[in-house]
Parts: sequence; C-alpha cells; structure tokens
Amino acid sequence: MPSQTNTLTITRPDDWHLHLRDGEALAAVVGFSARQFGRAVVMPNLKPPVTTVESARRYRDCIRGALPAGSSFEPLMTLYLTDDTEPAEIDRARASGFVCGVKYYPAGATTLSDAGVTSLARCHAALARMEELDVVLQVHGEATGTTVDPFDREAVFIERDLAPLVRRFPRLRIILEHVSTAVGIDFVRAQGPRVAATLTPQHLLLNRGAMFKGGLQPHLYCLPLLKRERDREALVAAATGMDPRFFLGTDSAPHARAAKESAGGCAGVFSAHAAIEIYAHVFEVAGALDRLEAFASHNGADYYGLPRNNGKITLRREAWTVPASYPFGAGELVPLFAGELLSWRLVPADGRT
Ligand code: DOR
Ligand code: ZN
Repeated sequence: MPSQTNTLTITRPDDWHLHLRDGEALAAVVGFSARQFGRAVVMPNLKPPVTTVESARRYRDCIRGALPAGSSFEPLMTLYLTDDTEPAEIDRARASGFVCGVKYYPAGATTLSDAGVTSLARCHAALARMEELDVVLQVHGEATGTTVDPFDREAVFIERDLAPLVRRFPRLRIILEHVSTAVGIDFVRAQGPRVAATLTPQHLLLNRGAMFKGGLQPHLYCLPLLKRERDREALVAAATGMDPRFFLGTDSAPHARAAKESAGGCAGVFSAHAAIEIYAHVFEVAGALDRLEAFASHNGADYYGLPRNNGKITLRREAWTVPASYPFGAGELVPLFAGELLSWRLVPADGRT
C-alpha cells in the first residue's frame, strides 16, 4: 500500500466563477475566498447589474475595501451582457486591464437575470467585437421557457443556442460556466481549445438525489440543478482528466437562510468557506489528488492568458466539522457540508490553526 499523503502543497488556486454580492453580504463572505484564492472572477448579477466598465470599477473598489487587511486577493471583473451592450463598452472592457470577460445570462434563467439577454441575435455587434478583441464570453448555459424540463435546460441550451453561437463566431472564446451534465462535457471536449468549462464543488460531489434526501434540501438548490449520477461521474472524469479546458469555478452564491428556507427559495449554494478543501475531497475520492493543482491553479489562468499565481497553499489531512452556519449581516448563511466532517483543512498562511 502506498503511504497516505498527509499534506498537499499546490500553487495558490483561483476561483473563476464567484458571487460576492455587495454591502454587508460582501463583507460577510469575501474573506472566505481571500484566504485560499489568489484571484476570482466576480459575477455581475447585482441589483442593478454591473453592465459597464465604470460600474465594474466601482464594484471592484467596494470589494477591495471589504477585504481583510493585508490581503492580496485580486477581484477580476466581468460585465453583464444585455440586449443593449454597445460594442464600445467591449472596447472599454478590453482597455481597462481588469475586466476579464462578459457574462451572458439568458433572461430569466437564474437569480437576478431579468436584465439578461432576450435573444442572442440582439447581441451580435457586441459578440463580434468580443471575438475581434479576444474578450471571453462566460455563459450561463441554460435554456428558459416552461416547455423545457428543468433537468434538460443545459442540454437544450447547448443544442439551441451554444452550438450555433460557436459556429457563428468561430474565434470567440467561450466558457460554459458550472457545466452540470455529461452532454455539456462531451460538447466542450468536441470543440477546440477556445471552448472551456468551469466546474463547481456541488456538481462534482452530489447528484440530484441529495436535493431530496430526507426531505427537500433547500441549501442544495442551485442553478443549474444537480443532475444524475452518470452526469456527476462525467464531471469528475473531466475535472480530474488533466484536460486544460476544465477548471475550478465554485459558483459560491450566498443567500440568507431565511431566503433559502422559504416558499420560492433562492437558488445558490455557498461553498467559499471550504471550497478548496471540498475539491480536495472530491479529487481524493477519485484517486486523483495529484491532479488537483492543474485543475485549481493552472488551467484557468492559462485559459485567460494570465500568469499563474506565485504563492502556494498547503492543505493538511485533518478531520474538522464544518459549522452549521456563519453570520451573514442580520441573518445567517448555511454552507455546503454544514455540520459534516471534512478530511482536508487549509493551513492558514501564518501557520496557526
Ligand atoms: O444557483 C445559482 N445562484 N445559480 C446562478 O446562476 C446564480 C446564483 C446566484 O447569484 O445566487
Ligand atoms: Zn454563478
């Protein structure tokens, strides 16, 4: 038997898909990401959405202002694509040096997506400019409409919208965010290096059975929904397969407990409190701990054309119980793995536990 690894040191990872919110919610969660990640792509679905470089600059300032003292965490910004996004805004994004992409939410597909795109045809000028200037399109890949089965939304989107988009803009770089199905993985694999995907901890860890186990579990409700076991297996194979097109994006999406545990509860899983530890758990179960670094710390930076981080983080094998909740402004936040044991723990930068 090979001896068990008890510590794991990897290049500091990045989170290529993160929701930080604003105001007191931002203050409550940003430290969790900053302790482990060097950078994060911060999603623009605020109220109102972050549609311009100027509003992205202001939002970035708020995030920096909310960081723990001395943190070198770098927020990378993305603009919220609308039917009215001007090509000139894409020029400004490219020139800004801190906007790394544009996020495409189909209108009505998820939380705060009402201002999203009603028809891709309306965005052709902006998309053409993105293709020309090599600005990455980050896609929430779910079809909307009452006739689409909730579990088929990703597959239908790929066939109806994504495949035609990839054909129409042959050089546009596209990330299928939070890919959740085997169909999605197969689609990405069938493209060249310009199409990539991020993978969340919850979609790698759980299938849709977990959402109903022991009664309805609102804290596991996210969009895209958790899928079948065979989908989860395809996601794990992609994440652990050393294919540079697949990389870490938590989609950590905090909502107050009261907003989750209610009729019409919000979609979103909060995972930033232990993201890298949960990915380590998934990779270890898959027998692929030695491949975590490529997925978490190399592939995303390489895809975005950014330098990999200089620093390192260390994880230690240590059983710890994830808190049942964390403070969240006037409310509280129920994290992924709440009250459960995790077997890996990040060693704090100063060496203390
Ligand atoms: O579950 C989700 N929550 N999916 C999304 O796409 C958005 C996110 C949020 O902002 O809460
Ligand atoms: Zn998201």
